[in-house]
Amino acid sequence: MFRDLAADPSWAFADCAPKQTRYITHGYYTYPAKFIPQLAARLIRELSSADDLVADPFMGSGTTIVEALVQGRRAVGVDINPVAHLVSRAKSTPIEPAVLAREFAALTRALEANDGAPARIPANARIDYWFPPPQKARLGVLLAHISQVEEAACRDFFLVAFAQILKACSIWLQRSVKPTRDLRKTPAEPLAAFLRQARAMLQQNSEFWNSVPARVRENIAHYRTVECADARALPVEEGAVSLIVTSPPYVTSYEYADLHQLAALWFAYLDALPEFRKRFIGSAHATRAATALQSETAERICAELGTGKKAREARNYFADMLECFVEMRRVLKDGGKACIVIGNTALRGVEILNAEVFVEQMHHLGFRTHSIIKRAIPSKILPQTRDPVSGRFTSTANSNRVLAYPVEYIVVMEKQ
Ligand SMILES: C[S@@+](CC[C@H](N)C(=O)[O-])C[C@H]1O[C@@H](n2cnc3c(N)ncnc32)[C@H](O)[C@@H]1O
Repeated sequence: MFRDLAADPSWAFADCAPKQTRYITHGYYTYPAKFIPQLAARLIRELSSADDLVADPFMGSGTTIVEALVQGRRAVGVDINPVAHLVSRAKSTPIEPAVLAREFAALTRALEANDGAPARIPANARIDYWFPPPQKARLGVLLAHISQVEEAACRDFFLVAFAQILKACSIWLQRSVKPTRDLRKTPAEPLAAFLRQARAMLQQNSEFWNSVPARVRENIAHYRTVECADARALPVEEGAVSLIVTSPPYVTSYEYADLHQLAALWFAYLDALPEFRKRFIGSAHATRAATALQSETAERICAELGTGKKAREARNYFADMLECFVEMRRVLKDGGKACIVIGNTALRGVEILNAEVFVEQMHHLGFRTHSIIKRAIPSKILPQTRDPVSGRFTSTANSNRVLAYPVEYIVVMEKQ
């Protein structure tokens, strides 16, 4: 089913310039491994109707949620990461442009006057690890002022602008998505960076406001639910969802808990990093009871990986994903479809055939295959290289690398 499948060029979106992938609110925040909005938009357009409920159990930065609202669907999404929850909430909240402009003017005035309000700096040694003292002090003042914005949607909006500038204001190696220090870096000046970022986002909010149907804008609480929760416990009644559009995490590719740690540090989400990491599916730190994987391919992959740590990580991952598919089946209506966007990877030279495993697991649960689309990934959004031993993504500067997934699958499964 998979090997002989030709890539469908109409799903590559090869003529889509990077700028087009950042239209409306998609440009608010740089979220590693987000899928391009054009892909989510097309699936939603072709596989659902107005006012249907569209879900994303791994919403990340909220791409599916935003696209569903633009097309007049209801949307529900969760992510285990509070940073993703904040970003998704802000990106999917159309704010009346005049209200936002007024709040921005008031915040700018307060920041420029700087009345000596106490800085808001969480007590965490990791802040000193990443931020030189001047940046730390100015970010603390900025956060104190943003925290005083009373209107919740505007406050979220400014918090995301704040989160987006943190990397530039720190000594995090600018070209790396992974936490790497660059002791020669000159960090950006926080106030100027924040005002620039917020101004660009103001424009994007206006575009979003004009793109979302008025009935959705006026009743956003009815149309949109986003929560910080586990993909295995969706805040949705049984049989309520018409369509799922999602891209799950991969096994030991990214430590998502670490990737967003700058924002998590400043917003004090990160009290206990080791415990926090364990909640992420695909994390090397996740632990769980062993269960049957309900996929011959998964069992074979785990056997080929041997008895060590990598085999355990793969086994945990497939077992966790099986539970996610059980939950997807619970929330879908009969005939509802789940679109899983996933590529194959490699761990210790063993091919990790995620798409094939997922199809087998979902068949076991009573889904039928509606269609399988193979697409080339022309975009630079996804990393293209992987360390051959650990299976982790590497920076392109690393010469000892192998190609990761330059193609991926959209597995469309139907509940019957
Ligand atoms: C590939 S990303 C999704 C990106 C998203 N499609 C976007 O466009 O931004 C996978 C997401 O799964 C989330 N995740 C990992 N474990 C989870 C869990 N147990 N429950 C819910 N989300 C989880 C990660 O935090 C990450 O945001």
